[in-house]
Amino acid sequence: MLSLGIESTAHTFGIGIANDKGKILANVKATFRSPRGGIKPQEAADFHLKNAIDVIEKALAEAGVDVKDIDIFSFARGPGLGPCLKIGATVARTLSLIHNKPLAAVNHCVAHIEIGRLLTKAKDPIIVYVSGGNTQIIALEEKRYRVFGETLDIGLGNMLDSFGRALGLAFPAGPILDKMYFQGKNYIDLPYTVKGTDLAFAGLQTAAEKLIGKVPTADLVYSLLHNAFAMLTEVTERALAYTERDEVLLVGGVACSKALQGMLLEMCKQRDAKLFVPKNEFCTDNGAMIAWLGMLEFIHGKTINVAKSSVKQNFRLEETEILW
Ligand code: FE2
Repeated sequence: MLSLGIESTAHTFGIGIANDKGKILANVKATFRSPRGGIKPQEAADFHLKNAIDVIEKALAEAGVDVKDIDIFSFARGPGLGPCLKIGATVARTLSLIHNKPLAAVNHCVAHIEIGRLLTKAKDPIIVYVSGGNTQIIALEEKRYRVFGETLDIGLGNMLDSFGRALGLAFPAGPILDKMYFQGKNYIDLPYTVKGTDLAFAGLQTAAEKLIGKVPTADLVYSLLHNAFAMLTEVTERALAYTERDEVLLVGGVACSKALQGMLLEMCKQRDAKLFVPKNEFCTDNGAMIAWLGMLEFIHGKTINVAKSSVKQNFRLEETEILW
């Protein structure tokens, strides 16, 4: 059986194709880049619409299958930007109706986790989900992914992008900042905000931006990333201890950061825990993760009627029952 998944929650329009054994046959994406940085939802949605057919055709060619061979069409129902979500949903509904095949409307955050578990073979990890809009520490408890701790203001990825913009870096700033981190030599004192198992990044960002031009840039970037990632590592360690787990799965776009991976790995080694990180193309937003979660839901009897498949901008991951 084959599932075709559509990701369109923010910058990325992605199409993935997965079979029921968990083999990823295609993972193709087009990514919206604004010359000004940041994202205007309607501009990204226009980009997704313009690229939809091309990306679908490339994915089908990569998988070597015909659209008629697809058994289920899946899309990311949320969370995400309304106009962007609607493009993916409309394309999926159309394909489902034309080809008379079932439809799955899945949670984007759960999809990040499930593709991570599939590809790394992590069994029952503490999940660190870090992307533009999301920063959450998660564990599976009683058939739902529960949020153990999360950001109280902005997502880690958005914080890095905003800071990068203030520095005059191109979007996405994350990979550039990550390289600069390793060039920094001296730590500059910046806010470190952990409240129980929650974190906050806005104060850290503001304080760092005030120092731009007044201190060496590499030291400033080093200190900003050091604090942000140390905060995340502290909360992750607390979650590991509290839930008595010994695995950490890092997912989401910021999971590509070598600086963050290094810090989490150090903590995991000290605790005899194991760190799992999928390949970059499956950390950042992608269609394969939507295809795979759609397949899991389909196998467990969960599909959705087209008429009831409206998008959910604030779709929480706890709403998805984990039946597998
Ligand atoms: Fe994401």
